[in-house]
Amino acid sequence: MSDQNLESEQEQEKPIKKGIYQSVRGMHDILPDQMPYWRKARRAFEDVSDFYGYGEITTPIVEPADLFIKAVGETSDIVEKEMYYLKNKAGNDALVLRPEGTAGIVRAYLEHGMQRTETHPVRLSYFGPFFRHERPQKGRYRQFWQAGFEIISTENDPIYDAQIILASYRVLEKLKLTNTTIKVNSIGSLECRKNYIKKLKAYFKTHAKKLTTEQKKKLESNPLRLLDSKDENLQELLPNVPVILDCLDTAAKKYFTKHLELLDELEVPYMLDHTLVRGLDYYSDTVFEFVLQNFDAKEEENFTLSLGGGGRYDPLFKILGGRGLAGVGAALGIERVILALENQHKIKPHELKNPVFFVHIGDLAKKKSLKIIEQLRNEKLTIIETLGKGSLSAQLKAANKHKAVFALIFGQKEAFEDSIIIRDMATGAQETIPLKRIVATLKKRFAQHD
Ligand code: HAM
Repeated sequence: MSDQNLESEQEQEKPIKKGIYQSVRGMHDILPDQMPYWRKARRAFEDVSDFYGYGEITTPIVEPADLFIKAVGETSDIVEKEMYYLKNKAGNDALVLRPEGTAGIVRAYLEHGMQRTETHPVRLSYFGPFFRHERPQKGRYRQFWQAGFEIISTENDPIYDAQIILASYRVLEKLKLTNTTIKVNSIGSLECRKNYIKKLKAYFKTHAKKLTTEQKKKLESNPLRLLDSKDENLQELLPNVPVILDCLDTAAKKYFTKHLELLDELEVPYMLDHTLVRGLDYYSDTVFEFVLQNFDAKEEENFTLSLGGGGRYDPLFKILGGRGLAGVGAALGIERVILALENQHKIKPHELKNPVFFVHIGDLAKKKSLKIIEQLRNEKLTIIETLGKGSLSAQLKAANKHKAVFALIFGQKEAFEDSIIIRDMATGAQETIPLKRIVATLKKRFAQHD
């Protein structure tokens, strides 16, 4: 990173602007007007999770750093550059904010002896925040949310890979997102990958002049990462890059063919992408990504966004101390799903149904109002109030702003007499009625209104 970049990064990290604290760079508040999108996305995910029998799991946000170093891999971008380390008072920094979900879930599965206690396959789903210190841009944040599915089994069967893809696909389908593509590939076993890496290194070395210093380093430490680089110089080299499928052994090829047959059977559309290798070291065999094409018409043409990704991770169990287990999973990036939703299906701001505004006048009425409002709400009436405001005109102004159909006016006299005034906001007509009849009267009036 150049000094200038570093400076602007520090500048943007400043917590205070014009005397007001700012949220940390790359981390966002989700305000009420955004929440309908979040709820919609979460509901779609939960419906699919229930439909296919996934049990929801929540694991801690803080995990041992070592868990991810072992699981995701020392040379992965996540471990090399992106983890948030927590320092405690003793200066010990062995803990991190979780950068992804799968390692924590496998840890929890093994820790709780689920291999013994559960009937397999175990289907788990999760929804929560994750943290990566990446350079923020549209669709890429330092705190982001994922909705994920994992299937842990005692046999590795491509049927589970297909079921995982199906579940994530159904979430996108439920949200009616268009322009999505599922990219699929197989990276085979570790042995297959070793052979492939040899070929890959040889290929890139013949084009070494076109690589940057950073890319040359990557070629030595983790050459697979060069395949998903967005850099133009590398893009030029990708069309002729060796194909990983050619390096798969017979078992891996058979597994992958079966997997694709199952996707065909399920009528899940996909495309093969032999450069798809994923950035986490725990994968073997099947890998896939859900991609959104041209997600923002204003952006450069053909700009794609990875909505989610996943794959088979059998090696992870051995790495974390499990035996005889296999797993496959996927996670959707919720902010990215929401970007797509906002672009494709604007949700109207939430409108209250039949709002009634409660107006109080005077201290006695104010005191009694709390209980009355509670009772009205228990009757499923939509009551809005500004009990902190004293003036009648301020409250009626608020009633108009909220487009209240009726206002209920409760003053000193009414508080003594146990009565209340009902005012039709459209006509201004008012009637005083006994307090005990207010629910029945409102329901009758609304029935006439509808
Ligand atoms: P991942 O590809 O690293 O996989 O992340 C999954 C999805 O999370 C991405 O496709 C993207 O939508 C979203 N995502 C990742 N980083 C960011 C970011 N900085 N800002 C916004 N969204 C982001 C995993 O995390 C694996 N644990 C998935 C998995 C589950 N594999 C097996 N089971």
